[in-house]
Amino acid sequence: MQRYHLTIAGGGATYTPGIVNSILNASDVLPLRKLVLLDTDAERVATMGGFIRLLLKEKAPTVELLVTTDRRQAFTGMDFLFAQIRSGGLPMRALDEQIPLRHGVVGQETCGPGGFAFALRSIPDMLAIGEDVRRYAPNAWILNYSNPAAILADAWHKRFPELKSLFICDMPIVIELLVAATLGQRHGELAFEYVGLNHFGWWRHIWDPQGQDLLPQLRAHLLSDKPLTLFEDEHVNADWIPTFERLRKSMGLFPEFLSNTYLQYYLFGEEMVGHEDPHYTRANRVMDTREKEVFAECRRCIAAGSVADSFLSAGVHGDFIVDHARAILTNRPFRTTVNVPNRGLVAGLPEDAIVEVHGQVTAHGVEAFGVGPLPHFQRALMVQQNAYEQLTVEAALEGSYAKALQALTLNRTVPSADVAKALLDDLLEANRDYWPPLR
Ligand code: NAD
Ligand code: G6P
Ligand code: MN
Repeated sequence: MQRYHLTIAGGGATYTPGIVNSILNASDVLPLRKLVLLDTDAERVATMGGFIRLLLKEKAPTVELLVTTDRRQAFTGMDFLFAQIRSGGLPMRALDEQIPLRHGVVGQETCGPGGFAFALRSIPDMLAIGEDVRRYAPNAWILNYSNPAAILADAWHKRFPELKSLFICDMPIVIELLVAATLGQRHGELAFEYVGLNHFGWWRHIWDPQGQDLLPQLRAHLLSDKPLTLFEDEHVNADWIPTFERLRKSMGLFPEFLSNTYLQYYLFGEEMVGHEDPHYTRANRVMDTREKEVFAECRRCIAAGSVADSFLSAGVHGDFIVDHARAILTNRPFRTTVNVPNRGLVAGLPEDAIVEVHGQVTAHGVEAFGVGPLPHFQRALMVQQNAYEQLTVEAALEGSYAKALQALTLNRTVPSADVAKALLDDLLEANRDYWPPLR
């Protein structure tokens, strides 16, 4: 049986143990010959590597492990690349979130000016990765989780149209699982229709196996006092509950469709700013909880010489990326949400816009499903957001201050060109060591 060489870029990420556990659980279709943890932070990935080495020893002893900061070593002979890099790390995420809040603007990892700053750090890093994939493993499949996903997909698809890649996000599947649990249904039996951009979309229908649309039932549920049925997942910890609860507010205001949770940052900006402490944001909580816990657990297991009793296990996030690899390897269609160049899928948007829609993945890649004409409200929001995304890519690639300012001015979270300029100058200062120079 063929065995595969799989590399994880961002191998030192907090999500690595979950993803590797999911890969090992899928060893019937994705048996590994070699696993590579690639990272820019040698110390961080060495600790993670110590944990993964024990995990492999106990669960898959024939798999070779390589922990490296060298892309040539990591990519030569590679079949799959799972990318989950965070350019600048969590400390820079904290600044992405805090600087906008000081200007009274939403401070978020992927939305608004924070997502913009993250994009300008990440685009050069992702393109450098792509250049080396093209050089050392041009036939590899690249499955990407790195954020901000739509902007990275745009830069990537324009530069590397020939590479086999899928840009995915776990938010739609997490929301769909929540919907299914809340309606007392099995997710696999429901057919969802979703359209939008990454972290910026809507479900318009939820069909049951008899062809009945369950959206009205979901609407009635969300508008009542009945609880949402949550399930065991990283995403359903206390920090995320208000976000899921706010789906009720979105539904009340815009009852024709179920909104992606991330739209809260674009539609309820003042409320989101009001809830935040500009000195302690989600990045700080992640550093004080998930990051500390994951790395403490890695060190504990390394000291104990075993992962046998570890709480670091597979979950929705790891299983979801592995399901895409499984579909590619087995040619069994997997219905999913993907971020792909529009090319006629959504009328009224540019052909090269990266849209997030349902599609099915097989050995031949993704076949995305088009949707009919959109109402003015969604189309206009998407056109504006897409223009912001494309201008962000152009600003990074051309080193253009003018385009960066246009991008931020167009972002719905930013109230004026004056605020956009003040923000751009502060973000530029904070990102001097990371951004391409802007002139
Ligand atoms: P993390 O900071 O724990 O890990 C990221 C790792 O990437 C770090 O070890 C860092 O050193 C490394 N890195 C940074 N730049 C790199 C580069 N150029 N090459 C290789 N490695 C590099 O972050 P995390 O919270 O585990 O998240 C990882 C990434 O996955 C982030 O981009 C996050 O936004 C994304 N993410 C996406 C989804 C999704 O559904 N789309 C879900 C969760 C996380
Ligand atoms: C969801 C989104 C990701 C995002 C993550 C943030 O999974 O789809 O794009 O990176 O949430 O989670 P965190 O726990 O790091 O705030
Ligand atoms: Mn996402």
